[in-house]
Amino acid sequence: MKIGVFDSGLGGLAVARAIMARLPEYEYVYLGDTKRVPYGGRSQEAIHEFTSEALDFLFAADCHLVVLACNTASAEALRKTQQEYLPDRYPDRRVLGVVIPCVEAAVATGAHRIGVLGTRSTVESGAYPREIIRRCPEAEVVQVAAPMLVPLIENDAVRHLDPFLQEYLDALGYVEALVLGCTHYSLIASQVRRRFAGPVLVSDEVVPEKLADYLLRHPEHESKLGRTGSRRYCLTDLTSGYAEMAARLMGDEIDLERVQL
Ligand code: DGL
Repeated sequence: MKIGVFDSGLGGLAVARAIMARLPEYEYVYLGDTKRVPYGGRSQEAIHEFTSEALDFLFAADCHLVVLACNTASAEALRKTQQEYLPDRYPDRRVLGVVIPCVEAAVATGAHRIGVLGTRSTVESGAYPREIIRRCPEAEVVQVAAPMLVPLIENDAVRHLDPFLQEYLDALGYVEALVLGCTHYSLIASQVRRRFAGPVLVSDEVVPEKLADYLLRHPEHESKLGRTGSRRYCLTDLTSGYAEMAARLMGDEIDLERVQL
């Protein structure tokens, strides 16, 4: 069986690429819901519905384990997925998110004032503060929604990033560590690091090691995974722009399949 990686769009390819580099032997199916991206301003109900449809697709495609690379889906839909969807429909499969790994990495820095940049939905879900405070009750969490970053990154317009990024960082005020709580932000991690001297936690740097550790601790799931190194990249909408961006994110041309959820 395979490992599924799900994102609302293409940004999750950065996470998928990093996971595949760390754990190359496994078989992967990437699913990007490019037809309905962005999820970042949608309601919790819509995000849960879309995530359930994505999981239906990935489980039907023989995935045993799915990583929700999308922070918005992890923040808004993971709990309900684990409490309701999985026990009802796929009790033997697993879904992992990216919020907890990034929270654990942020807490491990020892910082007490932790900043989070994310989409509006991620910020409104309160998932980051809730999980940080659970692990470090004396922590203070400052969140800022950064809705302009995804469109700039998606449209290859990072050269116009500076004023927006500076405004969002200024709005955070003084923080000791910063979580970039969105798939796309790994693409601007170097720009952020030029402006912010403390630890910056990015999902494509954090998640692969956490997944490797999870598989080590759960041989009952690891043993279900095939090891042919196969790769499948599925998108719910396909344009030449998506193909270019996917090649940029993966560092190589990849075969993209258009699928229906
Ligand atoms: N993938 C989303 C996330 O990580 C960003 C794009 C979107 O808004 O759908 O939060």
